[in-house]
Amino acid sequence: MTRDYLTESLTTYWFAPPVALWRAIELRVAAAEQYARPLLDLGCGDGLIAQVLFGTDACVDVGLDPWADQLHQAARCGAYRHVDLADGHRLPYVGGTFATVFSNSVLEHIPEVEPVVREVGRVLRPGGRFIFTVPSDAFRHLLDGYIRPMEAGNMEEAEWYAAAVDVWLEHHHYHTPEEWGGLLAAAGMEMVKARYYIPEGVERLWDRMNNRYGVGQPRTAWGLLVSPRLRPLGYQALLRRAVVRCLSRRWRLYYEADVPPGEKGGGLLVVARRTNDQ
Ligand SMILES: C[S@@+](CC[C@H](N)C(=O)[O-])C[C@H]1O[C@@H](n2cnc3c(N)ncnc32)[C@H](O)[C@@H]1O
Repeated sequence: MTRDYLTESLTTYWFAPPVALWRAIELRVAAAEQYARPLLDLGCGDGLIAQVLFGTDACVDVGLDPWADQLHQAARCGAYRHVDLADGHRLPYVGGTFATVFSNSVLEHIPEVEPVVREVGRVLRPGGRFIFTVPSDAFRHLLDGYIRPMEAGNMEEAEWYAAAVDVWLEHHHYHTPEEWGGLLAAAGMEMVKARYYIPEGVERLWDRMNNRYGVGQPRTAWGLLVSPRLRPLGYQALLRRAVVRCLSRRWRLYYEADVPPGEKGGGLLVVARRTNDQ
């Protein structure tokens, strides 16, 4: 049976519905890949993505992240056999340890990404695969807040908006599939797949909803309503149920939409294979 990642993500991230939508599509796309073990989750964060994707039977050999608070949560989530507090620039493993390195929404946050890609090439065994998701080279230009001023001829406002989103999300780069191919080749890997996801209409909705729900903005009405501090009042369970029921219906077509052939989407999944000649 096909998993319904939209309902699952809304249940987890009900307090930030656009986050749930993006993550649900990411999960749907990532779930279509095969993950041979030993498996490393590079930049695992709190482990919620691995928990949904790989379950809670410690099917991921290692979760690694330099952020201690997040890693403590990952250690408790059940997805990992082991977690390591470490940085992608210096992976604490001997060469050829892993059959798969997975990295979800991590590389765009690393300003100098080349050494990290090189480390992944080193710790993969020959034939092993590096599977990662990042915002794509089209991400900035598919934002609703970029397209609307651009269509009105106001490029300055469009660029200002996209730059503000870069700062908010701490995105440092948006490589094209060709650029990723070059970075991977320099690290002893060949790119075997580059798949865009999040079509234009979905990213525009996501962007509008971030503004509507005040995601990333301080002190909004929605932010107050879903604040953990107000949990003791008891109404949040009802609100959560209403969000899940309403949006899992209303956003269904957005969740299921694929990027039409020949077009770009805001997200990019890349699969690379470690070559044998090293
Ligand atoms: C947006 S979160 C994604 C977390 C998780 N992969 C997920 O999908 O929920 C980005 C993660 O990348 C981690 N990160 C940032 N710089 C890193 C680096 N140099 N090496 C490894 N992880 C890094 C952060 O600590 C953070 O947990």
